Amino acid sequence: MSLFSPLRISGIEIPNRIAISPMSQYRATDGFANDWHFVHLGRFALGGAGLVFCEATAVEERGRRTPGDLGIWQDDHIAGLARIAQFLEAEGAVPGIQLAHAGRKASERRPWHGESPLNDGDVALRGEAPWTAIAPSAIPYADGWPAPRAMTLDDIAETVAAFGAAAVRSLAAGFKVIEVYAAHGFLIHEFCSPIANRRTDAYGGSFEGRVRFPIEVAEAIRQVWPERLPLIFRLSATDWLDGGWTVDETVELARRLKAVGVNVIDCSSGGIGGAQPTPRLPLGHGFQVPFSERVRREAAMPTMAVGMIWNPAEANAIVADGRADLVALAREALDDPNWPLHAHAALNDGHAFSMWKAEFGWWLERRDRIVRKLGLRQSRGTSGQRQDR
Ligand SMILES: Cc1cc2nc3c(=O)[nH]c(=O)nc-3n(C[C@H](O)[C@H](O)[C@H](O)COP(=O)(O)O)c2cc1C
Repeated sequence: MSLFSPLRISGIEIPNRIAISPMSQYRATDGFANDWHFVHLGRFALGGAGLVFCEATAVEERGRRTPGDLGIWQDDHIAGLARIAQFLEAEGAVPGIQLAHAGRKASERRPWHGESPLNDGDVALRGEAPWTAIAPSAIPYADGWPAPRAMTLDDIAETVAAFGAAAVRSLAAGFKVIEVYAAHGFLIHEFCSPIANRRTDAYGGSFEGRVRFPIEVAEAIRQVWPERLPLIFRLSATDWLDGGWTVDETVELARRLKAVGVNVIDCSSGGIGGAQPTPRLPLGHGFQVPFSERVRREAAMPTMAVGMIWNPAEANAIVADGRADLVALAREALDDPNWPLHAHAALNDGHAFSMWKAEFGWWLERRDRIVRKLGLRQSRGTSGQRQDR
């Protein structure tokens, strides 16, 4: 098993183990995908990734994190997304979409506008008005954030249905994989974590209560999303906080999600916020891989590892050693959209351009021969990625 072995999940074959992790661009208007999204994601298909995810895509208008989030809350959103899905698939990548609801982190400024709650000042600055966020409990995300409105049982039913309706639209748009965004302190994670969920009804309290919402979301999607198409959940495996969501709970939730038709767990962590300062995270190459390894072993299901993975040999070892079935890259892919092609070269000396599209690879291979003959330099394709990483 290697980074470049195909992976079959249900009825879909992913050509290699490299996924491009969802990366919000905050470039949409009223939720509509545009040329920015098309080019941004298209680069990763040309770059050789096996699975390319669209960014967090809001299932409800009020579930957007910022005014620039992608959306899939109405049928009119389908056409722009379909154009992207078609291109990704035509170029050999499996097109995936991440379905999202921001919960109490909705109504936020873009990262470069402050990553803080919108207020009336943003109307004057950018024409962006704040809106009321909903969440399991009326607890603000952090100091200085407005309290969200605690969801009624009707809100819960409506939101679960919105995930189902978004799955129908995802199918119509031609996506082959759905990932549900149940991590990073957004709505679904808020239900799971005791830090954000203080409900006293059937959707709070015990582990059973807190995971009721994610399980209902998975069931609603599975009712309309064909069995042959993979369904992935991205979980924050731990809140990294005392009194927060734990890895043990992640393993148990993974088992229960598997029982209702979820195929893969994407293992991230953190993001819930709250009053406590986050302790120093053990950041380093592949620092979240141990979560993937544990879920894979203890819930006996495929996993995806993510977070600070950039070294081809180490990425390959994660798969070869059975610590994850897929590795997902985000920032490294922004830096180098051709990362899979370069990783392939680095891991397969002598086959530097065999994975490239002929439109690029034919020229690069030819140049490489000339350059080597003249002894001018070792080409990037032959040397693979920067070896210091
Ligand atoms: C620009 C950017 C946007 C992101 N947007 C999302 C998102 O929409 N959904 C999500 O689950 N994670 C999002 N993330 C987190 C990444 O998917 C990934 O989990 C994280 O960046 C760690 O991986 P990396 O070290 O390879 O960047 C985003 C990260 C970046 C850099």
